[in-house]
Amino acid sequence: MDAKDVEGEIEKVLISAEEIDARLTEMAAEIDAYYQGEKVLLVGVLNGAVMAMADLSRKLSTPAQMDWMAVSSYGSGTKSSGVVRILKDLASDIHDVNVLIVEDIIDSGLTLSWLIANLKSREPKSLRIATVLRKPEAAKVEVHVDHVGFDIPNEFVVGYGLDYAGDYRTLPFVGTLAPHVYGG
Ligand code: IMP
Ligand code: MG
Repeated sequence: MDAKDVEGEIEKVLISAEEIDARLTEMAAEIDAYYQGEKVLLVGVLNGAVMAMADLSRKLSTPAQMDWMAVSSYGSGTKSSGVVRILKDLASDIHDVNVLIVEDIIDSGLTLSWLIANLKSREPKSLRIATVLRKPEAAKVEVHVDHVGFDIPNEFVVGYGLDYAGDYRTLPFVGTLAPHVYGG
């Protein structure tokens, strides 16, 4: 799927596929520098992080395994409440394992802070966070994010794994939706 397939539905491209690719290359270098050849378990949060996982993991020199979690945040509409339910748990035991959470976006940070507390209780060797996108709201919660791709304005974005009502995840870029798509 590309820009021509969603003509009129995307208001503007915020971050192009090329920009994402270039930034992920830099992030992979940062991550490699941190782990210094130690093994890491990449934990992707479904469904949004699939693109980031696939692309970032292939740029790492660090030996990596992948695992996935699916969580659902109770809340109204697009705002998360911080009350989280596990829909799919990790398949592996992370005790004494270097864990790197891979996220598509951190908005309120509530989902992530819950996830960190949950994974910490399993006593991993280390727990770090990488996200492609971060919104300004995230600054309000006490969550340290180790690797951030892009800080973006407080706008609803789609593409590169991010959806609106399940759509637009497969776009290779990150963009904002035209108001008429929201029914506006
Ligand atoms: P929060 O950080 O707990 O507010 O929730 C983050 C989750 O909300 C992300 O994993 C996304 O699934 C979703 N989300 C937040 N902002 C956006 C956006 O701009 N577009 C699409 N999904 C978003
Ligand atoms: Mg997510």
